[in-house]
Amino acid sequence: MTSTPAPADFPRLPPVAADRLPALLQAMPKAELHMHIEGSLEPELIFQIARRNGVALPYASVEDLRRAYAFTNLQSFLDIYYAGASVLLKEQDFYDMAWAYLERAQADNVIHTEIFFDPQTHTARGVPMQTVIDGLHRACQDALPKLGVSASLILCFLRHLSEEEAFQTLEEALPFMGRFIGVGLDSSEVGHPPENFARVFARCRELGLRLVAHAGEEGPPAYIWSALDVLRVERIDHGVQSMRDPELVKRLARDRMPLTVCPLSNQKLCVFPNLADHNLGRLLDAGVMATVNSDDPAYFGGYMNQNFTETFAALGLGAPAAYRLARNSFEASFASAEAKVGWIARLDDTFARFA
Ligand code: HPA
Ligand code: ZN
Repeated sequence: MTSTPAPADFPRLPPVAADRLPALLQAMPKAELHMHIEGSLEPELIFQIARRNGVALPYASVEDLRRAYAFTNLQSFLDIYYAGASVLLKEQDFYDMAWAYLERAQADNVIHTEIFFDPQTHTARGVPMQTVIDGLHRACQDALPKLGVSASLILCFLRHLSEEEAFQTLEEALPFMGRFIGVGLDSSEVGHPPENFARVFARCRELGLRLVAHAGEEGPPAYIWSALDVLRVERIDHGVQSMRDPELVKRLARDRMPLTVCPLSNQKLCVFPNLADHNLGRLLDAGVMATVNSDDPAYFGGYMNQNFTETFAALGLGAPAAYRLARNSFEASFASAEAKVGWIARLDDTFARFA
């Protein structure tokens, strides 16, 4: 990514009374850049879809399933996340899942979202690629006229599988190229470094797809270097382990490399012992282009605004950080320059109203 100067802060960022901060966090328009659609599947919807598809679940009830949401690390979560996604079989299932998320996004004033999906989780069960992409894409298409939310899709490769399987997935997705804007890399991180996917990412780059990768959620700073220098990604998903390497933090800040940080996810997966220990504030202080995101909101206890309000309360962040994070979310998005200008103007209007 080319190095560009940091934009000037909101020129007249007005002081905002502390008691109005939660309302400001709610009202400010924002973009979400790190949300796995399969991780937005609420237990109620899992059971509803399971019933209509005749899929048996290893949980007796919604409450029983929710009780299983006690995670100790990324893998303990992924096991349950893949089990939940197993109910999805039909185009309408994918539509309904995405629509439920998009309604939640609208309620939180998310006006743009770039949604991850994991096709291999579904194609491995015999669900055609077209069924997955058709359902998700139809919901994204409906979101702008019906909800005022701009939405696009990012196809993620599962890193616990091989690069050959990633290539096969890309091949299956090629007929639907116009319906997703980029590719990402997710699933079990430690032991599956980014460089394992160097060739498939190079191919995606040639195809004109945008590139992101999870790196430094649980994995070491070396994985972030590798995502940057080998995969040549344009955003790092999570990246919170970068703080262990001062040279890396300098590099991220210098290049204005966005990090899509997910505070409640990090708390639930024990990346930080408590939300108060989260390094979001320190990343911003170091000049890193951080954003706030929900990751898997149905599993981690909150959609966008809950991520903002709980994290701001735990870290004692204020209106300037709110402005910076919302503005970063638009600037780090893969939307057109024109769309970004319009969204930032709406953000500025909201802050002016709260003066
Ligand atoms: N990390 C890695 N893979 C994932 C995640 C995550 O937080 N959520 C869904 N797949
Ligand atoms: Zn994620």
